[in-house]
Amino acid sequence: MPVTPLPLRGRGTRIEYGADYNPEQWPREVWARDVALMREAGVTIATVGVFSWALLQPAADAWDLDWLGDVLDLLHDGGIAVDLATATASPPPWLTTAHPEVLPVDADGRTLWPGGRQHWRPTSPVFRRHALALVERLARRFGDHPALVAWHVNNELGCHNAHDYSDDAAAAFRVWLRERYGSVGALNAAWGTAFWSQSYGRWDEVLPPRLAPTPANPTQQLDFARFSSDALREHLRAERDLLRAITPDVPVTTNFMVMGEASRMDYASWAGEVDVVSNDHYVRPGRHEHDELSFSANLTGGLAGGRPWWLMEHSTSAVNWQKVNRAKRPGELARDALTHVAHGADAICFFQWRQSTAGAERFHSAMVPHAGPDSAVFRDAAALGSVLDALAPVAGSHRGRAPVALLFDWDSWWATAQEFLPSTRLDYRRDAVEWYAAFADLGVRVDVLPADADLTGYALVVAPMLHVVDGARALRLTGYVEGGGHLVATYFSGIVDERAHVHLGGYPGALRDLLGIRIEEFTPLLDGESVGLDAFGGTGTVWTDRIDVVDAEVLARYTGGENAGRAAVTRRTAAGGGSAAWVSTRLQGPALAGLAERLLPPGVGSDLPPQVRGHVELAVRAGDGVEFWFLVNRTTDPVEVELDGEVLHGTREGPAVRLGPRGVAVLRRDPA
Ligand code: GLA
Repeated sequence: MPVTPLPLRGRGTRIEYGADYNPEQWPREVWARDVALMREAGVTIATVGVFSWALLQPAADAWDLDWLGDVLDLLHDGGIAVDLATATASPPPWLTTAHPEVLPVDADGRTLWPGGRQHWRPTSPVFRRHALALVERLARRFGDHPALVAWHVNNELGCHNAHDYSDDAAAAFRVWLRERYGSVGALNAAWGTAFWSQSYGRWDEVLPPRLAPTPANPTQQLDFARFSSDALREHLRAERDLLRAITPDVPVTTNFMVMGEASRMDYASWAGEVDVVSNDHYVRPGRHEHDELSFSANLTGGLAGGRPWWLMEHSTSAVNWQKVNRAKRPGELARDALTHVAHGADAICFFQWRQSTAGAERFHSAMVPHAGPDSAVFRDAAALGSVLDALAPVAGSHRGRAPVALLFDWDSWWATAQEFLPSTRLDYRRDAVEWYAAFADLGVRVDVLPADADLTGYALVVAPMLHVVDGARALRLTGYVEGGGHLVATYFSGIVDERAHVHLGGYPGALRDLLGIRIEEFTPLLDGESVGLDAFGGTGTVWTDRIDVVDAEVLARYTGGENAGRAAVTRRTAAGGGSAAWVSTRLQGPALAGLAERLLPPGVGSDLPPQVRGHVELAVRAGDGVEFWFLVNRTTDPVEVELDGEVLHGTREGPAVRLGPRGVAVLRRDPA
């Protein structure tokens, strides 16, 4: 893959650095000081206007864009580029007063009123009309402004309004279903409406899965999740198309949220809609904290097709929206930012530049905290600016292929999050992160990929809980294994098709023959229950299967519980030397790492020196005849890594690179 810098208008190849900048919260005399401080911190780019609608359009027929023009001029004079938001994220009070029909409605029929943000229906034609009028104003007024390098559509589309159950949503859902199924009869077949007397006679009888006496029809729920993601994507397309028509030379992005709430947007189907993939990420303190961060960055890289992307938001220190909001500890600010760079981010931005004194986010950290620039946070942020400047040679390099791929699938996430399953203790994303962490414990690199990505060249493919497997997906996975690839699928994978209908003949239907096993009944575990395995020192929780082995070797057996003595982990070797393994329970920590190691094909392993495996994460970016090795200390103990290469960031002591607690080093090396 050639070196591909972010396509920002008029920018060179560098790692951009900056923040959301909300000058409207401050008197004008602060603005000039802001720009001076930005320069001091090494800021190169600012995202402006994200929540400015009410000031830009104070009434239906009144516009005030001059102040924003002044901000853009000021930033440009200071050498700071602008990512200009279309400002449509939060509608102004005059709009929702005149048009309460734009307000979203939850599943219980409750209106979500103004007072917060994002109180708009993705399918409201009234909202769309007003939003596009604003977008057009901004594009015509600022499209030629020399500061403008990218458009930022809306903000975190779907952060608070992803699932809207209003009448607008109902009407749009029917249109979406009509396109998908063609006829009410086909809809009935797909939704299995013969069950519980749900057969529809006419389209207008079909509704979103509003609050009902029981959980709604599972296919209705799954289709509503898909529709809701598509409806927000439609909004993205509408703004983007208008922007492209007026300013074809300005790239368009919108910030994804590849964690938490992101379960509601299928970003695999969004990534192709933007000129630059961007993502927001906030660390959730706890076990696997760094692995989750790395996983999210890695998945964003996968969505970007291995090309560079933009970290649009993260925090310099505490956020304000978790139950307890911990300040970042020494080294965390740089580690978090550089972990994103390691996985392909060529722009590193924070929410936000200056910490607010008022409003809902006044206790959220910023580059300039309440304490002012004479603070550790500002000094750390400025130090990061210098580091990113020094990492300019990395910009444009793409992801160096890992030996292992981990598949990530929104359909399977949504389908396994429903009720009325064999267990409601399933956690799709948690399992994915745990498998990712297991390989990190071994020092083995993994590429996180959308589930239907090209698997060519991967020695091992891990599919945690890949529940939804239609014919095409089953064929692709079978083809991969028959071509010599090694596949690992875990419990509850391959059970249903794209309609959430169960594959018949024994589980895991779509993958049964490939795996050489047959399961007649699931045997999930109760809360607090666990079962031992005779290998890997492991204890399984959440789930077990009663496996009949048809054509596979047994890698581990249960030592207790209902399935004692039966297979827990199996592997079938296919004709071409490939294999397909099944893991029927949730393992964690060293046991999962032990299993992951056993599943690695011969010759596939860590590129790190043995003594630091597990302590250090390795991510590789590949440039033009050169590689950049990012070493991230996953622990709080200092560690020395013996590796040659020119140090772009970090400290070398003789043959070793020294990483302090949470430390990061970047080496420029010749490709192997
Ligand atoms: C999101 C939003 C920002 C801000 C941050 C706070 O990412 O896009 O406007 O609210 O969360 O963490």
